[in-house]
Amino acid sequence: MVFLNGEFTPKDQACISVMDRGFLFGDGVYEVIPVYAGKIFRLSDHLVRLQNSLDSIQISNPYTPEKYQNIFDQLLEQSPNSNQAIYLQITRGADTVRKHSFNELTPTVFIELNPLIPKTKTELENGYHAITQPDFRWERCDIKATSLLANIIYSQQAKQSQVEEVILHRDQMMTEGATSNVFTVKGNTLFTHPTGQHILSGITRDLVIESARYCGLIIKEVATKIDDIFSANEVWISSSTREVMPITNVDSKLINNGKIGQHWSQVYDHYQTIKNA
Ligand code: PDD
Repeated sequence: MVFLNGEFTPKDQACISVMDRGFLFGDGVYEVIPVYAGKIFRLSDHLVRLQNSLDSIQISNPYTPEKYQNIFDQLLEQSPNSNQAIYLQITRGADTVRKHSFNELTPTVFIELNPLIPKTKTELENGYHAITQPDFRWERCDIKATSLLANIIYSQQAKQSQVEEVILHRDQMMTEGATSNVFTVKGNTLFTHPTGQHILSGITRDLVIESARYCGLIIKEVATKIDDIFSANEVWISSSTREVMPITNVDSKLINNGKIGQHWSQVYDHYQTIKNA
């Protein structure tokens, strides 16, 4: 079952209008919210970011936090105590004509669950590969918009290059991954791009910073040169579906001789403690 505009419906029977602006323009926003053992993780943070995304594109939030919670609970009843990723999408809704500018419409709300299978620590300890690319996205990467053409192009490049992620840089400065935030460690210091319009303010990013601080790392939210990635001791990516993942090879060059860093291991463990609390 999925939730669409007030109804719980089998997924293959859920339909939207061809005039929906999400379909015509990608005019909508979304959230991906992890659920561990049936418990929704950091829901209020995701709902705050959702509100910010909606405000940025002038869509009125159709539901209260209680209503979202209620819908999620009903969907989660189908698979109790499991790990899931809630996908929540809100588009501006359907108009009668295709026009770029918009009228006030009834937003379309679509919510579904997807199984979430986090990688085990042993799997993660193998390390992952990434490639770098210039960031040709727009200047409002802080909006979690469903119009993801650039991210799709990068993700397909990652797939074709058989790597986990594409790490992006704008004016030679590292921004984020195509579908994740990026961190580098040098000595005892963790670097990550500051929030603002050039990255998505990841909920997992906040958690990684929280865990790293707990583990004694100094946190510097500053943009660093993309070339500095090759001399980093550790490189990590983070997202709600991947948690915190070590990257040991960038553009076919080894990071830290291809070895997993000790800071990643500690931060990963602390992250698991927060998640299971
Ligand atoms: N994406 N940056 C980008 C461009 C992302 O697409 C994502 C996550 C993140 C990490 O955000 P968070 O920690 O809140 O998941 C950063 C999701 C998972 C997706 O598009 O499916």
